[in-house]
Amino acid sequence: MSPDLEAIVAEARSAFAVVSDPAALEQVKARFLGKSGVIPHLLKGLGGLAPEERRESGARINAAKSEVELLLAARREAIAEETMQSRLREESLDMTLPGRGRGRGSVHPVMLTWRRVESIFRSVGFDVADGPEIETDWHNFTALNNPLDHPARSMQDTFYVDVEDEQGLPLLLRTHTSPMQVRYARGHTPPIKVIAPGRTYRVDSDATHSPMFHQVEGLWIGENVSFADLKGVYTDFLHRFFETDRLEVRFRPSYFPFTEPSAEIDMKFSSGPLAGRWLEISGSGQVHPAVVRNFGLDAERHIGFAFGSGLERLTMLRYGVQDLRLFFEGDLRFLRQFA
Ligand code: PHE
Repeated sequence: MSPDLEAIVAEARSAFAVVSDPAALEQVKARFLGKSGVIPHLLKGLGGLAPEERRESGARINAAKSEVELLLAARREAIAEETMQSRLREESLDMTLPGRGRGRGSVHPVMLTWRRVESIFRSVGFDVADGPEIETDWHNFTALNNPLDHPARSMQDTFYVDVEDEQGLPLLLRTHTSPMQVRYARGHTPPIKVIAPGRTYRVDSDATHSPMFHQVEGLWIGENVSFADLKGVYTDFLHRFFETDRLEVRFRPSYFPFTEPSAEIDMKFSSGPLAGRWLEISGSGQVHPAVVRNFGLDAERHIGFAFGSGLERLTMLRYGVQDLRLFFEGDLRFLRQFA
Protein backbone atom coordinates (compact mmCIF):
# COMPACT_ATOMS: atom_id res chain seq x y z
CA MET A 1 0.00 0.00 0.00
CA SER A 2 1.40 3.35 -0.94
CA PRO A 3 2.03 5.95 1.74
CA ASP A 4 -0.94 8.01 0.63
CA LEU A 5 -3.25 4.98 0.91
CA GLU A 6 -1.92 4.32 4.38
CA ALA A 7 -2.60 7.93 5.25
CA ILE A 8 -6.13 7.61 3.95
CA VAL A 9 -6.74 4.51 6.11
CA ALA A 10 -5.25 6.25 9.14
CA GLU A 11 -7.39 9.29 8.52
CA ALA A 12 -10.51 7.15 8.24
CA ARG A 13 -9.60 5.39 11.49
CA SER A 14 -9.35 8.63 13.43
CA ALA A 15 -12.39 10.17 11.74
CA PHE A 16 -14.47 7.12 12.71
CA ALA A 17 -13.09 7.23 16.23
CA VAL A 18 -14.26 10.77 16.99
CA VAL A 19 -17.91 10.29 16.04
CA SER A 20 -20.20 8.62 18.54
CA ASP A 21 -23.61 8.41 16.90
CA PRO A 22 -24.73 6.33 13.92
CA ALA A 23 -25.85 9.29 11.75
CA ALA A 24 -22.51 11.09 12.07
CA LEU A 25 -20.72 7.84 11.34
CA GLU A 26 -22.65 7.49 8.07
CA GLN A 27 -21.49 10.94 7.04
CA VAL A 28 -17.87 10.13 7.71
CA LYS A 29 -18.33 6.89 5.79
CA ALA A 30 -19.58 8.91 2.76
CA ARG A 31 -16.36 10.91 2.82
CA PHE A 32 -14.29 7.78 2.30
CA LEU A 33 -16.55 5.24 0.63
CA GLY A 34 -19.47 7.23 -0.82
CA LYS A 35 -19.94 7.80 -4.56
CA SER A 36 -17.79 10.92 -4.55
CA GLY A 37 -15.66 9.77 -1.63
CA VAL A 38 -11.87 9.46 -1.55
CA ILE A 39 -11.62 5.78 -2.39
CA PRO A 40 -14.13 5.58 -5.26
CA HIS A 41 -12.35 8.66 -6.64
CA LEU A 42 -9.05 6.78 -6.64
CA LEU A 43 -10.69 3.75 -8.27
CA LYS A 44 -12.09 5.93 -11.00
CA GLY A 45 -8.59 7.27 -11.64
CA LEU A 46 -7.43 3.73 -12.57
CA GLY A 47 -9.06 4.05 -15.97
CA GLY A 48 -6.21 6.15 -17.29
CA LEU A 49 -3.45 3.69 -16.34
CA ALA A 50 -1.73 0.99 -18.34
CA PRO A 51 -3.24 -2.46 -17.75
CA GLU A 52 -0.27 -3.78 -15.73
CA GLU A 53 -0.17 -0.77 -13.47
CA ARG A 54 -3.97 -0.70 -13.20
CA ARG A 55 -4.12 -4.22 -11.79
CA GLU A 56 -1.43 -3.53 -9.23
CA SER A 57 -2.75 -0.16 -8.20
CA GLY A 58 -6.35 -1.47 -8.19
CA ALA A 59 -5.38 -4.27 -5.80
CA ARG A 60 -3.80 -1.81 -3.40
CA ILE A 61 -6.74 0.55 -3.50
CA ASN A 62 -9.16 -2.35 -2.93
CA ALA A 63 -7.09 -3.54 0.02
CA ALA A 64 -7.30 -0.05 1.50
CA LYS A 65 -11.04 -0.03 0.80
CA SER A 66 -11.53 -3.32 2.63
CA GLU A 67 -9.56 -2.03 5.54
CA VAL A 68 -11.71 1.11 5.76
CA GLU A 69 -14.82 -1.05 5.54
CA LEU A 70 -13.58 -3.20 8.40
CA LEU A 71 -12.84 -0.12 10.50
CA LEU A 72 -16.30 1.19 9.72
CA ALA A 73 -17.99 -2.08 10.73
CA ALA A 74 -15.99 -2.22 13.95
CA ARG A 75 -16.89 1.36 14.79
CA ARG A 76 -20.55 0.73 14.02
CA GLU A 77 -20.60 -2.19 16.38
CA ALA A 78 -18.80 -0.23 19.08
CA ILE A 79 -21.30 2.63 18.79
CA ALA A 80 -24.24 0.23 19.00
CA GLU A 81 -22.73 -1.36 22.08
CA GLU A 82 -22.10 2.02 23.72
CA THR A 83 -25.65 3.14 22.94
CA MET A 84 -27.06 0.00 24.51
CA GLN A 85 -24.85 0.28 27.58
CA SER A 86 -25.86 3.87 28.17
CA ARG A 87 -29.54 3.03 27.72
CA LEU A 88 -29.16 0.20 30.21
CA ARG A 89 -27.56 2.60 32.65
CA GLU A 90 -30.27 5.20 32.22
CA GLU A 91 -33.22 2.88 32.26
CA SER A 92 -31.99 0.52 34.93
CA LEU A 93 -34.40 -0.72 37.58
CA ASP A 94 -33.26 -1.50 41.09
CA MET A 95 -34.47 -5.04 41.32
CA THR A 96 -33.19 -5.37 44.86
CA LEU A 97 -35.95 -3.20 46.35
CA PRO A 98 -38.17 -5.57 48.32
CA GLY A 99 -41.80 -5.84 47.15
CA ARG A 100 -44.51 -4.28 49.26
CA GLY A 101 -46.39 -7.56 49.69
CA ARG A 102 -49.73 -7.96 51.38
CA GLY A 103 -48.69 -9.93 54.42
CA ARG A 104 -49.72 -13.53 54.63
CA GLY A 105 -52.88 -14.21 56.61
CA SER A 106 -53.44 -17.30 58.68
CA VAL A 107 -56.40 -19.27 59.92
CA HIS A 108 -57.84 -18.12 63.24
CA PRO A 109 -57.30 -20.67 66.04
CA VAL A 110 -61.05 -21.10 66.57
CA MET A 111 -61.41 -21.82 62.86
CA LEU A 112 -58.60 -24.36 63.12
CA THR A 113 -60.69 -26.11 65.77
CA TRP A 114 -63.84 -25.78 63.65
CA ARG A 115 -62.14 -27.49 60.70
CA ARG A 116 -60.60 -30.13 62.91
CA VAL A 117 -63.96 -30.96 64.52
CA GLU A 118 -65.57 -31.20 61.09
CA SER A 119 -62.99 -33.57 59.73
CA ILE A 120 -63.09 -35.84 62.77
CA PHE A 121 -66.90 -36.14 62.72
CA ARG A 122 -67.05 -36.50 58.96
CA SER A 123 -64.66 -39.42 59.24
CA VAL A 124 -67.17 -41.29 61.41
CA GLY A 125 -70.10 -40.61 59.15
CA PHE A 126 -71.56 -37.33 60.39
CA ASP A 127 -72.96 -34.84 57.92
CA VAL A 128 -72.03 -31.18 58.46
CA ALA A 129 -74.85 -28.61 58.40
CA ASP A 130 -75.06 -24.87 58.55
CA GLY A 131 -78.03 -22.71 59.55
CA PRO A 132 -79.22 -19.19 60.35
CA GLU A 133 -77.75 -17.12 63.15
CA ILE A 134 -80.94 -15.05 63.33
CA GLU A 135 -83.50 -17.53 64.60
CA THR A 136 -87.15 -17.77 65.44
CA ASP A 137 -88.21 -18.13 69.04
CA TRP A 138 -89.76 -21.47 68.11
CA HIS A 139 -86.55 -23.06 66.77
CA ASN A 140 -84.30 -21.62 69.47
CA PHE A 141 -86.58 -22.28 72.46
CA THR A 142 -90.06 -23.70 72.05
CA ALA A 143 -89.25 -26.68 69.83
CA LEU A 144 -86.44 -27.49 72.25
CA ASN A 145 -88.91 -27.85 75.07
CA ASN A 146 -88.07 -24.57 76.79
CA PRO A 147 -91.11 -23.37 78.70
CA LEU A 148 -92.29 -19.86 77.85
CA ASP A 149 -91.12 -18.50 81.18
CA HIS A 150 -87.66 -20.08 81.03
CA PRO A 151 -85.04 -17.53 82.17
CA ALA A 152 -82.91 -18.11 79.06
CA ARG A 153 -85.59 -16.26 77.13
CA SER A 154 -85.03 -13.09 79.13
CA MET A 155 -83.57 -9.92 77.68
CA GLN A 156 -80.64 -10.34 80.06
CA ASP A 157 -79.56 -13.49 78.28
CA THR A 158 -80.72 -13.18 74.71
CA PHE A 159 -80.19 -10.59 71.97
CA TYR A 160 -83.51 -9.86 70.32
CA VAL A 161 -83.91 -8.42 66.84
CA ASP A 162 -86.44 -5.69 66.18
CA VAL A 163 -88.34 -7.84 63.69
CA GLU A 164 -91.21 -10.22 64.41
CA ASP A 165 -91.72 -13.66 62.96
CA GLU A 166 -95.05 -15.09 61.69
CA GLN A 167 -96.14 -15.81 65.25
CA GLY A 168 -95.63 -12.22 66.30
CA LEU A 169 -92.55 -13.13 68.33
CA PRO A 170 -89.32 -11.19 67.93
CA LEU A 171 -86.51 -12.86 66.03
CA LEU A 172 -83.35 -13.40 68.05
CA LEU A 173 -79.67 -14.20 67.70
CA ARG A 174 -79.48 -17.92 68.38
CA THR A 175 -78.20 -18.55 71.88
CA HIS A 176 -76.90 -22.01 71.00
CA THR A 177 -76.56 -24.25 67.94
CA SER A 178 -79.34 -26.55 69.21
CA PRO A 179 -82.00 -25.03 66.89
CA MET A 180 -80.04 -26.77 64.15
CA GLN A 181 -81.14 -30.10 65.64
CA VAL A 182 -84.69 -29.09 64.84
CA ARG A 183 -84.01 -27.61 61.41
CA TYR A 184 -81.90 -30.51 60.24
CA ALA A 185 -84.08 -33.28 61.68
CA ARG A 186 -87.21 -31.77 60.13
CA GLY A 187 -85.55 -31.85 56.72
CA HIS A 188 -84.09 -35.35 56.85
CA THR A 189 -85.21 -38.88 57.57
CA PRO A 190 -83.52 -41.08 60.16
CA PRO A 191 -80.90 -42.25 60.64
CA ILE A 192 -79.88 -38.67 61.28
CA LYS A 193 -76.24 -38.10 62.03
CA VAL A 194 -75.07 -34.51 61.85
CA ILE A 195 -72.92 -31.85 63.39
CA ALA A 196 -73.67 -28.13 63.04
CA PRO A 197 -70.81 -25.79 63.94
CA GLY A 198 -71.42 -22.06 64.02
CA ARG A 199 -71.67 -18.72 65.75
CA THR A 200 -73.90 -18.21 68.77
CA TYR A 201 -74.76 -15.14 70.87
CA ARG A 202 -75.54 -14.34 74.47
CA VAL A 203 -75.68 -11.15 76.53
CA ASP A 204 -72.53 -12.00 78.43
CA SER A 205 -69.03 -10.56 78.51
CA ASP A 206 -66.08 -11.26 80.80
CA ALA A 207 -62.81 -13.22 80.84
CA THR A 208 -64.63 -16.47 80.15
CA HIS A 209 -67.67 -15.23 78.19
CA SER A 210 -67.94 -13.38 74.94
CA PRO A 211 -71.23 -12.05 73.48
CA MET A 212 -70.39 -13.96 70.29
CA PHE A 213 -68.89 -17.39 70.54
CA HIS A 214 -68.88 -20.69 68.68
CA GLN A 215 -70.50 -24.00 69.33
CA VAL A 216 -70.74 -27.28 67.56
CA GLU A 217 -73.98 -29.19 67.85
CA GLY A 218 -74.09 -32.94 67.38
CA LEU A 219 -77.17 -35.07 66.77
CA TRP A 220 -77.54 -38.77 66.13
CA ILE A 221 -81.06 -40.15 65.87
CA GLY A 222 -81.97 -43.68 64.83
CA GLU A 223 -83.97 -46.64 66.05
CA ASN A 224 -81.32 -47.89 68.37
CA VAL A 225 -78.97 -45.06 69.26
CA SER A 226 -78.19 -45.09 72.96
CA PHE A 227 -76.30 -43.18 75.60
CA ALA A 228 -73.52 -45.74 75.15
CA ASP A 229 -73.12 -44.49 71.58
CA LEU A 230 -72.82 -40.94 72.88
CA LYS A 231 -70.07 -42.04 75.24
CA GLY A 232 -68.26 -43.93 72.52
CA VAL A 233 -68.52 -41.23 69.87
CA TYR A 234 -67.62 -38.36 72.18
CA THR A 235 -64.75 -40.10 73.92
CA ASP A 236 -63.29 -41.10 70.57
CA PHE A 237 -63.70 -37.52 69.39
CA LEU A 238 -61.77 -36.16 72.40
CA HIS A 239 -58.96 -38.65 71.91
CA ARG A 240 -58.63 -37.64 68.31
CA PHE A 241 -59.10 -33.92 68.87
CA PHE A 242 -56.42 -33.75 71.58
CA GLU A 243 -54.30 -36.40 69.88
CA THR A 244 -53.94 -38.43 73.05
CA ASP A 245 -55.54 -41.40 74.72
CA ARG A 246 -54.21 -40.13 78.02
CA LEU A 247 -57.44 -38.47 79.05
CA GLU A 248 -60.44 -39.56 81.05
CA VAL A 249 -64.03 -38.67 80.29
CA ARG A 250 -66.91 -38.50 82.72
CA PHE A 251 -70.61 -37.85 82.25
CA ARG A 252 -71.96 -35.76 85.11
CA PRO A 253 -75.73 -35.56 85.56
CA SER A 254 -77.10 -32.18 84.54
CA TYR A 255 -80.21 -30.53 83.18
CA PHE A 256 -81.25 -29.23 79.77
CA PRO A 257 -84.92 -28.91 78.80
CA PHE A 258 -84.29 -30.68 75.48
CA THR A 259 -82.48 -33.77 76.78
CA GLU A 260 -83.42 -36.41 79.30
CA PRO A 261 -81.27 -37.68 80.85
CA SER A 262 -78.81 -34.81 80.47
CA ALA A 263 -75.12 -34.81 81.22
CA GLU A 264 -72.24 -32.42 81.39
CA ILE A 265 -69.22 -34.01 79.74
CA ASP A 266 -66.00 -33.46 81.69
CA MET A 267 -62.52 -34.57 80.76
CA LYS A 268 -59.23 -34.89 82.59
CA PHE A 269 -55.78 -35.12 81.04
CA SER A 270 -53.48 -37.59 82.73
CA SER A 271 -50.36 -35.79 81.50
CA GLY A 272 -49.39 -32.31 80.39
CA PRO A 273 -49.88 -28.92 82.06
CA LEU A 274 -53.61 -29.45 82.73
CA ALA A 275 -53.20 -32.96 84.13
CA GLY A 276 -55.39 -34.00 87.03
CA ARG A 277 -58.10 -31.35 86.78
CA TRP A 278 -61.62 -32.13 85.61
CA LEU A 279 -62.53 -29.73 82.82
CA GLU A 280 -66.06 -29.14 81.62
CA ILE A 281 -66.21 -29.55 77.89
CA SER A 282 -69.74 -30.09 76.62
CA GLY A 283 -73.45 -30.35 77.33
CA SER A 284 -75.14 -33.51 76.17
CA GLY A 285 -77.99 -35.91 76.66
CA GLN A 286 -80.57 -38.21 75.21
CA VAL A 287 -82.95 -36.18 73.08
CA HIS A 288 -86.21 -35.53 74.96
CA PRO A 289 -89.26 -37.29 73.43
CA ALA A 290 -91.09 -33.97 73.15
CA VAL A 291 -88.22 -32.67 71.03
CA VAL A 292 -88.20 -35.82 68.88
CA ARG A 293 -91.90 -35.13 68.23
CA ASN A 294 -91.01 -31.57 67.21
CA PHE A 295 -88.57 -33.11 64.73
CA GLY A 296 -91.71 -34.59 63.17
CA LEU A 297 -90.72 -38.10 64.24
CA ASP A 298 -92.34 -40.86 66.26
CA ALA A 299 -90.75 -40.66 69.69
CA GLU A 300 -91.62 -44.32 70.34
CA ARG A 301 -89.50 -45.37 67.42
CA HIS A 302 -86.75 -42.81 67.17
CA ILE A 303 -84.24 -42.17 69.85
CA GLY A 304 -80.79 -40.71 70.06
CA PHE A 305 -78.44 -38.20 71.58
CA ALA A 306 -77.28 -34.65 71.14
CA PHE A 307 -74.36 -32.65 72.40
CA GLY A 308 -73.29 -29.04 72.20
CA SER A 309 -69.65 -28.07 72.73
CA GLY A 310 -67.91 -24.70 72.80
CA LEU A 311 -65.30 -24.29 70.09
CA GLU A 312 -63.42 -21.60 72.06
CA ARG A 313 -63.27 -23.95 75.02
CA LEU A 314 -61.85 -26.78 72.92
CA THR A 315 -59.34 -24.36 71.39
CA MET A 316 -58.23 -23.02 74.78
CA LEU A 317 -57.62 -26.51 76.10
CA ARG A 318 -55.82 -27.69 73.00
CA TYR A 319 -53.42 -24.74 72.82
CA GLY A 320 -53.27 -23.72 76.48
CA VAL A 321 -54.87 -20.32 75.93
CA GLN A 322 -55.79 -18.71 79.26
CA ASP A 323 -58.04 -15.82 78.34
CA LEU A 324 -61.00 -16.13 75.98
CA ARG A 325 -60.76 -12.46 74.99
CA LEU A 326 -57.54 -13.13 73.09
CA PHE A 327 -59.63 -14.79 70.39
CA PHE A 328 -61.53 -11.59 69.65
CA GLU A 329 -58.94 -8.84 70.05
CA GLY A 330 -57.12 -9.41 66.78
CA ASP A 331 -53.68 -9.05 68.39
CA LEU A 332 -51.21 -10.26 65.77
CA ARG A 333 -48.69 -11.32 68.40
CA PHE A 334 -51.25 -13.84 69.56
CA LEU A 335 -52.64 -14.86 66.18
CA ARG A 336 -49.20 -15.37 64.56
CA GLN A 337 -48.53 -18.21 66.94
CA PHE A 338 -51.07 -20.27 65.02
CA ALA A 339 -49.78 -19.39 61.54
N1 PHE B 1 -77.38 -26.13 73.87
C1 PHE B 1 -76.73 -26.43 75.11
C2 PHE B 1 -75.96 -25.18 75.57
O1 PHE B 1 -75.78 -24.28 74.80
C3 PHE B 1 -75.77 -27.58 74.98
C4 PHE B 1 -76.42 -28.88 74.68
C5 PHE B 1 -76.61 -29.29 73.38
C6 PHE B 1 -76.85 -29.70 75.70
C7 PHE B 1 -77.19 -30.50 73.09
C8 PHE B 1 -77.44 -30.91 75.44
C9 PHE B 1 -77.60 -31.32 74.13
O2 PHE B 1 -75.54 -25.10 76.70
